Formats: sequence, structure tokens, C-alpha cells
Amino acid sequence: MESKIEFSTIILAAGKGTRMKSDRPKVLHSICGNPLIKYPLLAAKQAGASNAVIVIGHGSEEVRLALKDEDVTFAVQKEQLGTGHAVMVCEEAIKVRNQPVLILCGDAPLITSETISDLVQRHTLEKNSVTVLTADFDEPFGYGRIVKDGDELVRIVEEKDATPEEKKLKEVNSGVYCVDATYLFDSLANVGRDNAQGEYYLTDIIKCGKDAGVKVGWSKVSDHDEIMGINSRQELAEAGHIMRLRILDELMTSGVTVVDPQSTYVDNGVKVGKDSILDPQVRLEGHTVVGEKVILETGNIIINSKVGDGTHLKPYCVITESELAEETIIGPFAHLRPGSTVKAKGKVGNFCEMKKSVLGAGSKVNHLSYIGDSEVGQGVNIGAGTVTCNYDGYNKYKTIIEDGVFIGSGTNLVAPVTVGSGAVIGAGSTITRNVPSDSLSLSRPEQKVLKDWAKKRREEREKK
Ligand code: UD1
Ligand code: CA
Repeated sequence: MESKIEFSTIILAAGKGTRMKSDRPKVLHSICGNPLIKYPLLAAKQAGASNAVIVIGHGSEEVRLALKDEDVTFAVQKEQLGTGHAVMVCEEAIKVRNQPVLILCGDAPLITSETISDLVQRHTLEKNSVTVLTADFDEPFGYGRIVKDGDELVRIVEEKDATPEEKKLKEVNSGVYCVDATYLFDSLANVGRDNAQGEYYLTDIIKCGKDAGVKVGWSKVSDHDEIMGINSRQELAEAGHIMRLRILDELMTSGVTVVDPQSTYVDNGVKVGKDSILDPQVRLEGHTVVGEKVILETGNIIINSKVGDGTHLKPYCVITESELAEETIIGPFAHLRPGSTVKAKGKVGNFCEMKKSVLGAGSKVNHLSYIGDSEVGQGVNIGAGTVTCNYDGYNKYKTIIEDGVFIGSGTNLVAPVTVGSGAVIGAGSTITRNVPSDSLSLSRPEQKVLKDWAKKRREEREKK
């Protein structure tokens, strides 16, 4: 077995991203639920990067905040004097000098951990001082071009500095490199800014390497999508599309049916168990975890929620920060707001809303009801149009409905109130006091019957 190669990573993320026309730093624009910067970071970590340094500048506080839960170090580049300068500011942060450094761009989210592993391995096997990841583009405009002598990489020339001949070259610099740490910082010390943009170009370390007689290598990635950098909103959408199809492809490979990948949106990091079915227009966001054999019909939007095995979500439900246990049946058109839990085999039907409430195992609230700040026990039946009146304009109060209760349709439960186990509430009641177990509570005026009233009215109208 080959031994694991230790390497650090630097991710460049100080640039402004002028073409995004945004107040937000470019690397914090999102695809598939995560800011761009998270993707290269994740890929580097998956490939085994032992430590990550993020170069920040524009919007540095926002970038720090977005990465506050990640194990990374920040290096601040106060003035954006070029990619070479950006790496120079990491000199302090890269403490281990006898191992390679992987350099990635924070605005290129599609790089995979496999490509990174291949690059680092090739770099090590070939004993290079620097290895560049390249790709062929039919339309290489804007990228640095790879200038070779036969098979040997000689230098990289930027679009703005290239001769008409060089501009015709189709092999481009991906902006991804593996470089020995000592060589990296030594060579950067010799890089100047005598070029069309007046910047310190990181790419100049190639020519420096050639001049110094160290080994310079390259590795070409077959799928050039991987190196796509985001510079505009159009490219953001394009990269989002590619990432989305990748996520769905992985789900399908693991045994999930995705009926129409073109219209299904699953965030990076969402989990879906095997034999679950995602119908068109399903959207799964954030930290959502869907179990096995779950049916998600058209139009379900599920955000940061857990969906238990065997659950059936009928069309058009919105579920946020909630938990559904096994074999629940939800919808169509149900709205579960944060803090809702439906226990095993619970049912929440059409036009029902729940918030910060537990619906016990096997309990049903099937039609047009609002259940807020409530604890509902097992085997409870809540009739159509029942409302927990949980708010008095100032404070929220709890409703407790114990096991086996039957609540008639059109009931108002004015919280705080408890309905004891096994009790029955007559339809149309407004319940303001606690209901003892096994009792019947009714709170509606006695029905008046005026005999023949309707008939007389009809006859009177006909006389006119
Ligand atoms: C760079 C490469 C080019 C390559 C392309 C791939 C150089 C000189 N050119 O060009 O050969 O084909 O990437 O996408 O390296 N950044 C900083 N600080 C700076 C400047 C840039 O952190 O002072 C960051 C940016 O935020 C971005 C990355 O570095 O994440 C690349 O910078 P960018 O200006 O987009 O470089 P390109 O001109 O695209
Ligand atoms: Ca770029």
C-alpha cells in the first residue's frame, strides 16, 4: 500500500469579483446551498490536506464569519497585488516546509478530490518542485496559456501578456498547483510585477523554476468543467447546474430514484436513503436527512429537516427544521414550521400548519387545522378546522392533548389548556378550561329549532 502523502493547502479568496456586480465577496455566492469557497476546501480536505490557509482581503470579515466552523487559518492580503502576492502572505501560516502545498482558487468550486489526489501523487512520484494542473479549452480566452517545448512546460503566459501566436494555444492554466513549500516561497521572492497588469503573478514561479533548473511538471485534467472559475452570475448559474447534476448522479448511483434530474434540487450535504423516490420539483435544502423508502411527491420543499424511513410526502408541502419519524403521511399542502415533530405513523393532512409542536405516534390532524406550541399524545384524532389559540397578542401558551383524545371539528383550544387522556370534545367547542380525562366537553349554545320557519319565509316571498 502506498503511504499517505502529507500536504497543506492554500485557497486564494481575496479578490473582489468585480463582474459579479455584488456587495458580497465573490467566494460567498452560493451554489447548491454552500458558498463557493466551501467546495475547494472540502475537496482538498477529502483528498487529505492536513491544514488549510485561506487568503482573504475583500470582504474579509464576511468570509471569516462564513467559515467560522471550519478548521482553517486565515492570511490577510490587504492590497490585491496579484496571485503571487496572495500566496506570499501565507508564508507565516505555512509552517511545515518539507511537504507540498496545494494551491486552489476560492472561486473554482468544481474541482474534485480525485483530481487533487492525482495531482499531488504525480507531483510526488515525479519528484517535481512544482506541478501545474492544466486543461484543454476550445475557447481559452481569459486563461493563462501553457507554453511548452515538446512535452516540457516552459512558462505560463497571461491573456493580457500573450502574443497573437500564444493566444492560439488551447491548453490553459487551471490555477491549481502543487508546489514544494520551500521552493514556493523562495521562488516567489524573485517574482516581479513587470507585466501588463502590474501584478505579482504566481504563474511566474514556473519560469523561475526552469531558470533555476528544478523539475517542473504538469497534469492535464480530462473534464475541464472541474477548473471552471466563476466570474459572473451567468457562470455561477452554470456551475450550479453542473454541481446539482453531480449531486443527483451520486444519489442515483446510491439507489435513489430521481424522476427528473433537470427539475430536482438537492443541496450539497443532504442525505437520501436508498429506494426513496424524488418526483419533479422536489427541493431538499441544508442539513436535511431523508431516510429509506421515502416518497417525495412533486413540489415538496424540505429545509434542515429529518424524514424517517417509509414516510410519504404528498405534493406541495413545506417542511422547515422539523422531524418526521417512520411511516408518517404528510400533505398534500401541509406546512410544518420550525420545531415540529411527527411521531411514527402520524398523519398531517391538507392545509394543516404545525409549529413547535409534537404530534404523537399514530395521531391524525388531517384537514385545515393549526397546531402551535402543542404536545399531542398518541392515537389522537383532531377534527377538521381545529385551532390551538396559542397567542394572546403578547405571549405564547401551550396546549397539551393527551393520548387517545378525540377532538371534534371546528374546535378552538384556548391555551394554556390541557385535554386529559381519552376525553372527547364536541364539534364547534371553544375550550378555555382544562378537560378531565375520559370526559365529554361541549361549549356551544344549545341549538334552537324554529319549526317551519324556512317554509313560511318561502311562502311569504312568493306572495310578493
Ligand atoms: C489566474 C491565473 C491564470 C489562470 C486562471 C485560472 C495568474 C497570474 N493567472 O488568472 O493563469 O488561467 O487564474 O482561473 O495567476 N486573488 C487573490 N489576490 C489577488 C489576486 C487574486 O486572492 O491579489 C485570488 C482571486 O480571489 C481568485 C484567484 O486568486 O480566487 C484567481 O485570481 P484571478 O484574478 O481571478 O486570476 P485570473 O486572472 O483568472
Ligand atoms: Ca479567475
